[in-house]
Amino acid sequence: MLARKRLLITGVLTRKSIAFAVAHEAQLAGAEVLLTGFGRTRRMTERAAARLPDPPDVLELDVNAEDDLAALAAEVEQRWGGLDGVLHAIAFAPADAIGGKFLETPPESAMEAFRTSAYSYQALARHLAPLMDSGGSVVGLDFDASVAWPSYDWMGVAKAALEAVNRYLARELGPRGIRANLVSAGPIASPAAGGIPGFDGLSGSWPEVAPLGWDADNPTPIARAVCFLLSDWSEAISGELLHVDGGAHAIAGVAPSRAESTAPFRVRLSAERLVGASGRASWGRASRRRP
Ligand SMILES: NC(=O)c1ccc[n+]([C@@H]2O[C@H](COP(=O)([O-])OP(=O)(O)OC[C@H]3O[C@@H](n4cnc5c(N)ncnc54)[C@H](O)[C@@H]3O)[C@@H](O)[C@H]2O)c1
Repeated sequence: MLARKRLLITGVLTRKSIAFAVAHEAQLAGAEVLLTGFGRTRRMTERAAARLPDPPDVLELDVNAEDDLAALAAEVEQRWGGLDGVLHAIAFAPADAIGGKFLETPPESAMEAFRTSAYSYQALARHLAPLMDSGGSVVGLDFDASVAWPSYDWMGVAKAALEAVNRYLARELGPRGIRANLVSAGPIASPAAGGIPGFDGLSGSWPEVAPLGWDADNPTPIARAVCFLLSDWSEAISGELLHVDGGAHAIAGVAPSRAESTAPFRVRLSAERLVGASGRASWGRASRRRP
């Protein structure tokens, strides 16, 4: 599916990063891959890279540094003479912008979350699109921003911005034959997820809502959807938000087939989960769907 595709994949920190699964599946599908890493954590990216089927080089990229972006584009051009696709798998929010402090977050922290997690999608595309002479594909990773989640706070706001950036990229880059799409993923137990208070509640309740079920330790279905969007098979798709979440985004309450035999009990359980024993809302999708 990705034979002869030259792909730049950002966001690999460890083997549990969603981007690691993307790099893995992309290589299995025949792609040439380069990774990026930055600063003190670059060594971790290099260690993860060594575990891929064909260990790729890791190029330096702090996505907020224009110099890094320019040097990255120059390096990719020198190595490959062009580029066919790029994955944006980057997100960051300061501790006071996530975890239930929404009303206390200072503007600097909200703006840092926005810059690193949303504006950076434009920055990456702006620097790399000139290398996609014969068209290409930019893909980003989203967490459904159509609702307000417990604890996700300003990262949720940044993801809403990311969804808007995606539409504008599709508009601006389409005439150059470059597509822009997001995959809205269900919860995955990645390094970033470990820093989100309440993540376990979210990933624990997701399988009850998703009609297809959900395994937070398996990012491969997300990776395969990203590979599809990076491939020519998505040639007429742009500005799209593709949910890879076991179907949870489309379902109110618990998944029908799972609820069927125990519906009254399940509805009560779902309502109880809204506040839990501690009186605090859980970080689950069910928490916005009061029966
Ligand atoms: N884990 C989930 O449940 C989940 C669900 C939906 C979407 N996502 C999204 O998937 C993407 C990848 O996250 P992940 O969960 O695999 O976690 P992760 O921690 O493995 O990846 C986040 C990456 O962002 C990178 N990063 C942060 N600041 C950066 C900067 N200034 N410059 C360059 N890189 C920077 C980190 O180095 C890291 O590699 C993120 O956009 C995240 O929001 C995650």
